[in-house]
Amino acid sequence: MTQLTGPVLLALALSGAATSDHDSSKACAAIASALPNLISFPNSSPYSSHNIYWSARQSEARPSCFVAPNTAQDVAKAIKILTRQNIPFAVKAGGHTPFEGASNIAQGVTLDLANLNAISVALDRKTVSVGAGARWINVSEALDPLGLAVVGGRSATVGVSGLILGGGISYFSGSRGWACDNVRNYEVVLASGEIVNASPRVNRNLYWALRGGGGSNFGIVTRFDLASFDQGELWANSRIWPGALNRTLIPLMHDLLVNGLPSDPEAHTYFVMTYYPQLGGYLVMNDQYHATYSNTTSPPDVFAAFHDAALPTLLTNTRLANVSRLLRDIEQPFGMRQAYWDTSLAATATPDLLLDIVPLWEEQVALLTAAAAAVNSTVEPYLVYQGISSNILEAMQVNGGNALGLKPEDGPVMIVQLSLTWSNPALDEVVETSSKELIDKVNALAASRGARSKNGYIYMNYAADTQDVYAGYGRENLARLRHVAKRYDPEGKFRKLWRGYFKL
Ligand SMILES: Cc1cc2nc3c(=O)[nH]c(=O)nc-3n(C[C@H](O)[C@H](O)[C@H](O)COP(=O)(O)OP(=O)(O)OC[C@H]3O[C@@H](n4cnc5c(N)ncnc54)[C@H](O)[C@@H]3O)c2cc1C
Ligand SMILES: *[C@@H]1O[C@H](CO)[C@@H](O)[C@H](O)[C@H]1NC(C)=O
Ligand SMILES: *[C@@H]1O[C@H](CO)[C@@H](O)[C@H](O)[C@H]1NC(C)=O
Ligand SMILES: *[C@@H]1O[C@H](CO)[C@@H](O)[C@H](O)[C@H]1NC(C)=O
Ligand SMILES: *[C@@H]1O[C@H](CO)[C@@H](O)[C@H](O)[C@H]1NC(C)=O
Ligand SMILES: *[C@@H]1O[C@H](CO)[C@@H](O)[C@H](O)[C@H]1NC(C)=O
Repeated sequence: MTQLTGPVLLALALSGAATSDHDSSKACAAIASALPNLISFPNSSPYSSHNIYWSARQSEARPSCFVAPNTAQDVAKAIKILTRQNIPFAVKAGGHTPFEGASNIAQGVTLDLANLNAISVALDRKTVSVGAGARWINVSEALDPLGLAVVGGRSATVGVSGLILGGGISYFSGSRGWACDNVRNYEVVLASGEIVNASPRVNRNLYWALRGGGGSNFGIVTRFDLASFDQGELWANSRIWPGALNRTLIPLMHDLLVNGLPSDPEAHTYFVMTYYPQLGGYLVMNDQYHATYSNTTSPPDVFAAFHDAALPTLLTNTRLANVSRLLRDIEQPFGMRQAYWDTSLAATATPDLLLDIVPLWEEQVALLTAAAAAVNSTVEPYLVYQGISSNILEAMQVNGGNALGLKPEDGPVMIVQLSLTWSNPALDEVVETSSKELIDKVNALAASRGARSKNGYIYMNYAADTQDVYAGYGRENLARLRHVAKRYDPEGKFRKLWRGYFKL
């Protein structure tokens, strides 16, 4: 066996990089002649506008070119060139994944779906067809004036595509499941360049896989046909308390997950803790929504405990609002460095586990605050609790079930998410390593209390790139997802060439 020494490996790596750069330039040229006007090269203003991502970690990758298809046929042409010439590529929709390389690529080709932005409402008002490059604000601005809504995202510029393909937590999930449970049909470009539909009638296995199984192993979705329903303004209430109240609020949050939310499927909520020295230190924040309640002077019963005068807030904001306004209310600015990590827990009989995670998170906050101070910078840390109550798990089963592997009998489940925002790249490593350590500690604590969720489910859309998301779908679903990937991409082209994100 030949011994590969350091310099030989280095030479191989360099020649590999040079070859791929050269090849992707050739592919860009081939695409430019097949799809004139849809391609842009570095140091041009179209290239710069495609290279805008929510997280600065993503915009730092510099692809050889961006391709911005106008139609599914354009996507098919580009994919044929890329898969025949074996060119690495990435696919961008809303561009909101935090980690580098999720929807952009250094040296390869990035397909930006932004121009696939058509939105049309069926005559019977029961289906809305949405192009894969649309953002949730585009959807709500089309639907609000018609008194319609879909099960979709909660922040304005997040992409329709990524959110639906990984699951999709919505205001309306309590009665209708996640976004992926409310797709009637996907139009998809396969690795071969063939354009197919996937629905309960055709390509049923592909349809199932795309319901939460992510896109990057199966195909490029070019259009989502979503179930729509009549919806007026929602009741919404945001509350901010001093962090010291967490020991009172978390037991109430636990009771809401286990008992409250299942009693009122029109209600939706999540809890966020943060450290914000300008407002005195730790804070607990809570957004409450109700799809049908309309009294702004008193809350719906399901949230009454949080409105008790014994729990004084620093800030509260009650409103009746359309989806567009609510989406803008929690829009997060572009251009900072971002990281997400998550895990999930089985809700136990008592809130102890949810309480005991808080001091573990405080240790991470102290570590990051010190690390940031050492480079004269800051990190914003968030600990987010989002429940999957039993009514959501039941609603997930109604339209034939999804790929996530979550069953009503295993619930309710609490998603525990870490979200971090910072600006100095010198902090990237400490953010990632301390987040991994904290998630490991949370999992170990849960295991010691018998409260790991079934299969150790990790929500894809809040996961870090190094997390083994697919293992959490369960053995059986993982095998079925692999089977579907092999059936629709027999040569494994997407596995090899579609870089970043989670691979089967
Ligand atoms: C501010 C903010 C708010 C959020 N709010 C919510 C929320 O309310 N509910 C929720 O569930 N999640 C939420 N998320 C998480 C969000 O669902 C994920 O970040 C999601 O992946 C973003 O989708 P995107 O299209 O913007 O991202 P992108 O980074 O463009 O895409 C994500 C991945 O999907 C692939 N992909 C994109 N388009 C396609 C396609 N058409 N076909 C196949 N693969 C494709 C990409 O290649 C990439 O790997 C939020 C995230 C942020 C940053
Ligand atoms: C979709 O929304 C984005 C963000 O507000 C906006 O820039 C874009 O022009 C909208 N697209 C369409 C087709 O209206
Ligand atoms: C949503 O409501 C706001 C008022 O809060 C209004 O200004 C806006 O036009 C509405 N948006 C749509 C798309 O209907
Ligand atoms: C939680 O509450 C306890 C007791 O009031 C307090 O010591 C701790 O700092 C709080 N933690 C957070 C994150 O607010
Ligand atoms: C709203 O709730 C308050 C308190 O329960 C009640 O007094 C009031 O009549 C309600 N308003 C409407 C419009 O129903
Ligand atoms: C630290 O950062 C602040 C604001 O970013 C800046 O005003 C200040 O000059 C910096 N101090 C040092 C010592 O670099």
